Amino acid sequence: MSDTAQLIVDGKTYEIPIITGTEGERALDISRLRADTGLITLDPGCGNTGTCQSSITFMDGEKGILRYRGIPVEQLAEHSTFRETAYLLINGELPTQEELQRFSVRLNDHSLVHEDMRAFFESYPRGTHPMGMLSSMINALRAFYPRIPTRSEEEEINITFARLLSKVRTLAAMSYKISLGHKVVYPRYDLSYCANFLNMMFDSPVRPYRIDEDLVEALNVFWILHADHEQNCSTAAVRSVGSARVNLYASISAGISALWGPLHGGANQAVIEMLQEIYDRGGDPAPFIARAKDKEDPFRLMGFGHRVYKTFDPRARIMEKVCNRVLKKLNRQDPLLPIAKRLEEVALKDSYFIDHNLYPNVDFYAGIVLRAIGIPLDMFPVMFAIGRLPGWIAQWKESADDPKWKIHRPRQIYTGLLKRDYVPMEERG
Ligand code: CMC
Repeated sequence: MSDTAQLIVDGKTYEIPIITGTEGERALDISRLRADTGLITLDPGCGNTGTCQSSITFMDGEKGILRYRGIPVEQLAEHSTFRETAYLLINGELPTQEELQRFSVRLNDHSLVHEDMRAFFESYPRGTHPMGMLSSMINALRAFYPRIPTRSEEEEINITFARLLSKVRTLAAMSYKISLGHKVVYPRYDLSYCANFLNMMFDSPVRPYRIDEDLVEALNVFWILHADHEQNCSTAAVRSVGSARVNLYASISAGISALWGPLHGGANQAVIEMLQEIYDRGGDPAPFIARAKDKEDPFRLMGFGHRVYKTFDPRARIMEKVCNRVLKKLNRQDPLLPIAKRLEEVALKDSYFIDHNLYPNVDFYAGIVLRAIGIPLDMFPVMFAIGRLPGWIAQWKESADDPKWKIHRPRQIYTGLLKRDYVPMEERG
């Protein structure tokens, strides 16, 4: 296969290098395009544009493949823990027993949140969406935990990673407890990452929380499935904001804001709202399918479609299994599950969805899993954010360590007015 392409502009031929990734994906390297030809490329939504070379996550949208550091997500979901997967993403290798132990101790050591941060929560108006709160809290962490100049750069970075991974759970659970007007529950040294979060969410002085290992396992898989997804909107935001060399807290805060959107991490909440509406209207998905196909109607089938996957999202299949397993073990029915299954069945047979390659994505069954665990609806995107944190950290680190690092500064094609003179107020018609 050729390692250059030819571009002919105004009769002149330019050689464009082709670079090839380890899985054989190919890209035109246009980094000299403007300098050599005076042209830029235009790609709204970046569907054809790579902004980095990355060794963290591999996706094949045609085959429905997702691997973290080379390991299929299916294997991680079956054998790993979220904590171990976070280590893998950030450090590039699975940890040894000793490394995992050190990582766990570090996460435990940094799990508490400065008591003064409670004042923030208490000042938010009731009803503030927890994603807005989480984004500003993560940014505020920088003020509460400033850089210690005597620490080495490496030590400081590792502590910042641990702080973020550990405190995000504490902050999320605190925001829930304070929103209810309940006593905050502190993290515990003796609990695993997922069990600790559930305990902080649901333990209460009047009703101690009984940790259910099946729910811990469901949460573990949920977070593993969300841990990274290469250059999605929020990760691109983390990299882009980080490219201005701002601190990691501010970059992650930007990622949380991007993730909040209903087309991205907010979709898990939107799916449940849609299923609930179908249920409330008698349970027939047909009118919703018809609306999704109607080009005059902005409605979309939430939890369907993906920019990269043109077949089943591999995470959706695992999430569906977790959903079935957890409801069976709890011996509980969720009236939204049969509606989701019916909707999926009808959509997958519909020519519109077939022709547009629209399949269920990770968010389609995620909400039913979260409902089974007991997570309140507006916390769903927060659950996605906690899961995505290792990926954001790994991607930020990779971009910060890149010797070819450059500030993100896309170009544009200007379509506004040509030069004209300022008109004084009294002369304006
Ligand atoms: N329902 C109905 N039509 C859809 C849907 C949908 N969910 N998704 C895409 N389409 C149609 C769209 O109308 C367009 O049709 P046409 O070409 O006839 O005008 C075509 O498919 C391509 O759509 P697009 O908006 O150009 O596709 P995209 O790659 O930019 O969008 C998406 C990807 C995920 C934003 C979109 O599929 C969507 O809005 N899905 C619903 C929201 C959702 O579930 N988001 C979660 C994504 S997975 C979690 C994550 O990683 O964020």
